[in-house]
Amino acid sequence: MDSYHIWGGKPLSGELAVSAAKNAVLPILAATAMIPGETIIENCPELSDVHNMCEILSHLGCRITREGALLQVDAKGLFRCSIPEAMMKRMRSSVFLAGPLLSRCGRAELCAPGGCAIGSRPTDLHVQGLSALSAEISQQQGRLLCRAGQLLGAEVFLSYPSVGATENILMAAVSAKGETVIRNAAREPEIVDLQNFLNACGADIRGAGTEEIRIKGGRRLSPVRYRVMGDRIEGGTYLMAAAATGGSLRLRGISPQWIAAELSVLRRMGCRIEEGAQEVFLQAPSRLRSPGEVTAQPWPGFATDLQSPLLSLCASAEGTSTITDAVFERRFQCARQLALMGADIEVLDRTAVVRGVPMLRGSRVCAQDLRGGAALMIAALAAEGKTIVENICHIDRGYGKFDIALQTLGAHIERRSADGRKTAGVSEEQTTKKEA
Ligand code: UD1
Repeated sequence: MDSYHIWGGKPLSGELAVSAAKNAVLPILAATAMIPGETIIENCPELSDVHNMCEILSHLGCRITREGALLQVDAKGLFRCSIPEAMMKRMRSSVFLAGPLLSRCGRAELCAPGGCAIGSRPTDLHVQGLSALSAEISQQQGRLLCRAGQLLGAEVFLSYPSVGATENILMAAVSAKGETVIRNAAREPEIVDLQNFLNACGADIRGAGTEEIRIKGGRRLSPVRYRVMGDRIEGGTYLMAAAATGGSLRLRGISPQWIAAELSVLRRMGCRIEEGAQEVFLQAPSRLRSPGEVTAQPWPGFATDLQSPLLSLCASAEGTSTITDAVFERRFQCARQLALMGADIEVLDRTAVVRGVPMLRGSRVCAQDLRGGAALMIAALAAEGKTIVENICHIDRGYGKFDIALQTLGAHIERRSADGRKTAGVSEEQTTKKEA
């Protein structure tokens, strides 16, 4: 398996444009399964999760064509509604296909999805929501069997604003008869992007981005050409990398409102930040200071996906920081790896107490989940000496051409295969195939 070799201690500086958001493109790709025609995504990112979603769509009978960033999904020939366990286990987002398949075929056969091991990650809210729309759902030998003669609009109250459940229910509701109201819906910007995509296809959805989403079902969907929103988590990661190294970054393709909570924390840590219409400029001090207490929460709170990268920043900031994750219960796995680099982090249940040390030192570390992997990359860029980050398949799920982006900012980084050769990256090999 490939690893990243990073020679740290160099301030990053320059300009970067974010890719399209992984967390927006995955539900949008799932939604293409219910549109009988050729949908085009104009700016599809090169990520292994995208590749895996395309493989599932191909298995279901969709024709996928990719030319650079342009991805075309032709779902006219979709003929299967069952997803093999091996494909389901590759990522959490495979569960997004339940709503679209129910809507297109009246049937969906799935099993528990995979994804990062950051907590128990049940699917009960997806099941409750789809059942409320009159789907019959049963479990047999670990398989989830969903059936619906006709989905019927309903009022759905989510006991927790789950992003995935909101999206799954929203997609199923598009084809249901009558109106659906989702209350206590998740408000993440990616849900607004899914609404924009589906409305462009002919759906009638209002309220995404607020706690109440109303969907008038039964509209005929037609394929469109669509440009997906920028990736606020990728953007936040690059800003944090620049901050950790005492550098500066002009980040384009992202609305500062999407990362307002994160920008406020970075300001507290001593960064100067200027906000533009679709860009952010950050200038870091020579040493960051602790932001005090930060709690990761559903949007508009501090993103749980940027909680691990923040740990790396706090690890060498001046003072003690207290970071709590109110979304996932086991999202501090990277703390042990950061300790190998000299970080002083104590994890108590859902809270990490980080006592900043003057400087991290290079070491051999291992990524255990996607954002924890990004945290190790940030720590490596800031550390003195060389770091090898192993198990980077996790990082490939969410950051396309990470090394190349960081090199443009002046980082000294190489991607190498297990036998020490420099490589171009699996995501690149996978996604430049003409047909997936
Ligand atoms: C999405 C994002 C992920 C992000 C997370 C929270 C995608 C592809 N992934 O994941 O990057 O970290 O939102 O912002 O968009 N829960 C239940 N029952 C359910 C569903 C969720 O109890 O049926 C719980 C989860 O265990 C977790 C919390 O709700 O503790 C949040 O999960 P959720 O918002 O659903 O996250 P995902 O959609 O999996």
